[in-house]
Amino acid sequence: MSAVAINGAAQLLRPPEDGLPYLRHDRAGEQRLDAGSLLIEGETIAGLQASGSADVRIDATGCAVIPGFVDCHTHVPFAGWREREYERKLAGESYESISRAGGGIRSSARSLAESSDEQVLEQSQTLAAEMLAHGTTAFECKSGYGLSPEGEVRSVALAKALAGQVTQRTRSTGLLAHAIPEGYDRSSWMDEVERMLPDVLVAGDVSALDIYVETVAFTNDDLRRMGRLASAHSLDLRAHVEQFSANHSVPVAVDLGARSVDHLSCLPGDEVPGLAASETAAVLLPGAEFLGREQIPPGRELADAGAIGVLATDLNPGTSPVLSMPVIIGLAVRHYRWSALEAVLASTLNAAWVLRMSQDTGSLEPGKRADVLVLDGPIERIGYRFGRNPVAAAIVGGSLAHVRADFAGRVSR
Ligand code: NIG
Ligand code: FE
Repeated sequence: MSAVAINGAAQLLRPPEDGLPYLRHDRAGEQRLDAGSLLIEGETIAGLQASGSADVRIDATGCAVIPGFVDCHTHVPFAGWREREYERKLAGESYESISRAGGGIRSSARSLAESSDEQVLEQSQTLAAEMLAHGTTAFECKSGYGLSPEGEVRSVALAKALAGQVTQRTRSTGLLAHAIPEGYDRSSWMDEVERMLPDVLVAGDVSALDIYVETVAFTNDDLRRMGRLASAHSLDLRAHVEQFSANHSVPVAVDLGARSVDHLSCLPGDEVPGLAASETAAVLLPGAEFLGREQIPPGRELADAGAIGVLATDLNPGTSPVLSMPVIIGLAVRHYRWSALEAVLASTLNAAWVLRMSQDTGSLEPGKRADVLVLDGPIERIGYRFGRNPVAAAIVGGSLAHVRADFAGRVSR
């Protein structure tokens, strides 16, 4: 069995105790950041001492060693980009108005339909490689740009194909109610969703259903219907909610036992305690907030109230063409006044909880899968040196999958 030894880290991030499925944000400060070493054997973290022989040795002097980032909310695979739309937004046009004029999600649906499987997979593989270099060792794929039964089936099939082609582990979500396709209204599209679901489940490895609740998209009643569909098929429910307006979707999603509610820019203050007391994760997407000049969600309040706080890129061609978790952490610490410990927790263990991966990844514990990052400085520097990539090396499932060129001298084989 091959072994990797990481020696002499200035900070080794450890949870307060082993075996936690998540850590509520009011306990983030209980994580430990002592100096330490790590031994990896095969795919697994073998121990917190790295003496003895190893095939690969990494000198982590002055470095932080943390779990790999889990990007639990991305819209990969998609086709092309929408930079012209961004220009229109900068000139003052709203997301809603662009969307009503056939832009937005519909424009990415056209690009997907016009691209071959090979083209979509090639773009997605390139993104996955860039994500790896920025420390993402597992990520979510969403459908949602299919906008027809055939398109959605193809989209989850592409996500399944992609899973076999990238270094990271992935999870696939059927975002089957993303925009209302031409020729449908909300309710006839939800009928269609119900009809297509068996085919979607055959074509992909889907573990969750998702819906976009917004004035330009779906309603809380549709969210309830998606919740019933998810539970009938033993799938998790996730929901895009409170992004541009307050629709009071969070109490509905919490009642449905949703795995996560995502965005939350317009979450009313009196809905914070109910969410924080639940096991529904609060997934905040500061890339979309920043680039869309959205309202800042109550991130500080959610953390203080003990929510399962989570960060993700929302990587998509419209609201967040951002793939870097370090950038997302930089935005989160600034906008939510989160500590580095809070932001890293939200990007690792708690994000793994959303994807049902936290039993075997998301924290540095003997026996867990070795998804590990070596950062070239302390974790407080991730957000502080905003825009810079601090990831010097990334280990995925025990294999050294990425080493930044200037760090190669610290790796001996
Ligand atoms: O998470 N809000 C809805 N869905 C995406 C945007 C998709 C798009 O604009 O293409 C989001 O922000
Ligand atoms: Fe999204």
